[in-house]
Amino acid sequence: MRSGVPLRPETGSRRRFGRALVLALMASAPGPSEVMGQEPLSFERYRETVEPIFLADRGGWGPGRAPCVTCHAEQGTPLRLQRLRETDEGEVFWSEEDSRRNFEVVSRLVMPGDPDRSRFLRKALTVAAGGAPFHVGGKFFESKSDPEWQTMADWVAAADPVERPAPPRLDFDFFRDCVQRVFLDKRPGDVECIHCHESGARGFARHIPEGRDFWDQQESRGNFAIARRYVEPGEPMMSRLLTHPLAPNAGGDYFHGGPRRWASMDDPEWQMLAAWVRGETPECIVGTRAGAGGG
Ligand code: HEC
Ligand code: HEC
Repeated sequence: MRSGVPLRPETGSRRRFGRALVLALMASAPGPSEVMGQEPLSFERYRETVEPIFLADRGGWGPGRAPCVTCHAEQGTPLRLQRLRETDEGEVFWSEEDSRRNFEVVSRLVMPGDPDRSRFLRKALTVAAGGAPFHVGGKFFESKSDPEWQTMADWVAAADPVERPAPPRLDFDFFRDCVQRVFLDKRPGDVECIHCHESGARGFARHIPEGRDFWDQQESRGNFAIARRYVEPGEPMMSRLLTHPLAPNAGGDYFHGGPRRWASMDDPEWQMLAAWVRGETPECIVGTRAGAGGG
């Protein structure tokens, strides 16, 4: 029997009080100083209470109005959720396996036991209420007393704190000397990144001044600062710099205003960029076409 996630949050009250959920509820009852062994983030509770929030219809489209899932399914943001499945009746849902993947992704953005330090909770919360300064998707929660926000916060608060390894550091020198060469490299039939990304908010390959054919140190720093916004250290598939120009059938984002430079993740250039995102300093490979037909 498939257990789908209900589309409307109100039907989410259909709760099975599984063991982990009961434990999680118990753990949230005493004060935060009570340490009751190692209570991990609860998957059951996540699936019953948090995930329906991603699907909730908010009566509109665009930032601050659209269901979270419209922008967060299969897109290279740090909150990269699975693609929705659909029943014959047109009801959307995630299978349990999908939900487990979603759970892993969301868990990475959470500090167990500490809602206020959880990226997951700060993004869609207004700045005045302590939220993150910026969210492309807009602000959905006016205050921490918003019932949906509280539901998510309760889930996080119920877990015991755990030590997390720090994310890897992105190597700037490698960006300067190698990644930037990708932005300039032309593949047959395609336009270079710099052609479209040399100015504006997405200008990670700024215009190069006359008389030079590469960026200097300061310009490279500027490019890095912008490219950095599209990179989630340690997580290539959550990094839009890597998923936007990747073919959609190979795991790339649904939409890119520019070309798909990489037909698959097997492209040595893509592999190299992924290694850099994981904090490694790989050998520099630019412009190799692997497994791509024609051109
Ligand atoms: C209109 C599209 C859109 C909608 C709707 C949207 N988001 Fe986002 N969200 C984005 C984009 C794009 C990013 C990556 C850029 C950024 O950080 O703003 C993002 C990033 C995030 C992140 C990553 C946090 C981090 O620290 O990097 C979280 C968490 C998040 N959104 C939560 C939500 C939640 C929860 C909802 C629904 C209540 C939602 N978003 C709705 C577009 C959207
Ligand atoms: C023909 C023009 C064009 C080219 C070439 C191009 N892009 Fe884009 N790119 C766009 C446009 C337009 C957008 C904004 C709409 C969108 O999100 O796709 C965009 C968006 C992006 C974003 C996401 C920004 C955001 O706000 O979420 C990234 C990352 C990106 N491009 C990376 C690249 C990389 C890397 C290359 C080179 C391999 C490249 N693009 C080549 C036009 C282009």
